[in-house]
Amino acid sequence: MAKLIQYRTNASLYDGAFDSTVGWAAAGMADVIVTDNKKLIVIDGGFGDDAEGILSILQSNTESEIPHVDLWIITHPHHDHCGAIRELACNENFRSKLTVGKILYWFPPEFCGKDGKAGALVKANERMETVLEAFGAEYHRPSLDEKISIDGIVLHFLYVPDDCTILNTGGGNSNLCSLIFTVESENKKAMITGDAYHRSMQMTVWRYHKKLKCDILQMPHHGLCDSHNIEFYREVNAETVLIPTSAAGYRTMHSDMYADREGRNNNLWAENNAAQVFKAFEGTAEIEL
Ligand SMILES: [Fe+2]
Repeated sequence: MAKLIQYRTNASLYDGAFDSTVGWAAAGMADVIVTDNKKLIVIDGGFGDDAEGILSILQSNTESEIPHVDLWIITHPHHDHCGAIRELACNENFRSKLTVGKILYWFPPEFCGKDGKAGALVKANERMETVLEAFGAEYHRPSLDEKISIDGIVLHFLYVPDDCTILNTGGGNSNLCSLIFTVESENKKAMITGDAYHRSMQMTVWRYHKKLKCDILQMPHHGLCDSHNIEFYREVNAETVLIPTSAAGYRTMHSDMYADREGRNNNLWAENNAAQVFKAFEGTAEIEL
């Protein structure tokens, strides 16, 4: 039976202040898919300090001496998502302990930063080139509606970074580039949203209206109230919800602090609609896929 593992990132244990003064310390995000025949797919990986933990998950889910990741997917170029793969690639202690076949990502070079100028993601691309080189991995650029099959698991890309050229009208937050895709086995289907924002999910609803039903939903942007889309949540209608959130983030979003925010209430709808909820800070969770 294939499984989806939501890893308990180190940052998820943060339990301090969480507001607009000190900032929103989210949690990073790291998921591992283990197929029926123990092929490994990684989604993001968390911050650099999660490298050791992710490696340990990979080691304990493989029969070979050195784990081999068939496909490593990076949803978008933020450190809390691509820090671990960089650490694994650049730290001599780690690099020889795993191999990576293919890395999937796309950080559009025309993406505009807060200053409105294109090129905000050029450095992030250069860093990923180093990762590819260190692992001798193949590069794969995702395209809209593409399907990739690995040992009975089908990945289907519903929103890809090139779509952000439609949405990138200012603001410069590369969460707008975050991939949205499904991971489907014979038995179950999971919706992965990375740190997608409202408009990305809205575009996905328009494109795939009535085709989004999934068993599992990874809540976008760590379950924080600046990202939400009630139509998307209703269409996905998941029985299981994964929240890559910190203890502080979860507590705050369930307090009265942001009770007047539409996003907070929409996110609570998705959570309350589910039969089971896995929060990253509560521990690494293994879910049948
Ligand atoms: Fe994030």
